[in-house]
Amino acid sequence: MIYASEAVGATGASTLSIAQILGVSERNNRRDHVSGCLMFHDGHILQVLEGARADLDRLMRRILVDPRHAGVRVLSDMPIAERRMQDPMFLCGDPASLLERTGLPCISCLTATEAEAMLEIRKAA
Ligand SMILES: Cc1cc2nc3c(=O)[nH]c(=O)nc-3n(C[C@H](O)[C@H](O)[C@H](O)COP(=O)(O)O)c2cc1C
Repeated sequence: MIYASEAVGATGASTLSIAQILGVSERNNRRDHVSGCLMFHDGHILQVLEGARADLDRLMRRILVDPRHAGVRVLSDMPIAERRMQDPMFLCGDPASLLERTGLPCISCLTATEAEAMLEIRKAA
């Protein structure tokens, strides 16, 4: 599952706001065998989540109603042969350089194919 959304308030802009999301995500995702990767860039959010269907559905129901972001758009939601991420939640620490390497200006108008390409580049890095 890959989705994009828009940050609300200080979400993603302050260390505290990021730490709060990462803390809960790390705990819940480990419990639910979900692996994920999260990126904040310029007020935009991109998250990739991998796991069992029921666990992802439950997680997405929580994420959709979270007031810390808005305008959640699912870019990709499909079965995969094997996981590409192992960590319960990985924060992409250098989104600007990842975008640059993918040749994209910003994550707000990303397509599913471009998001997949970013994931591959991150994995290879
Ligand atoms: C951008 C963003 C990404 C999030 N990612 C996750 C996640 O991967 N796993 C998770 O459990 N919660 C995530 N959350 C938090 C959920 O929306 C929700 O607050 C949390 O799951 C509630 O957990 P609790 O029921 O244990 O308190 C995210 C929130 C935001 C704003």
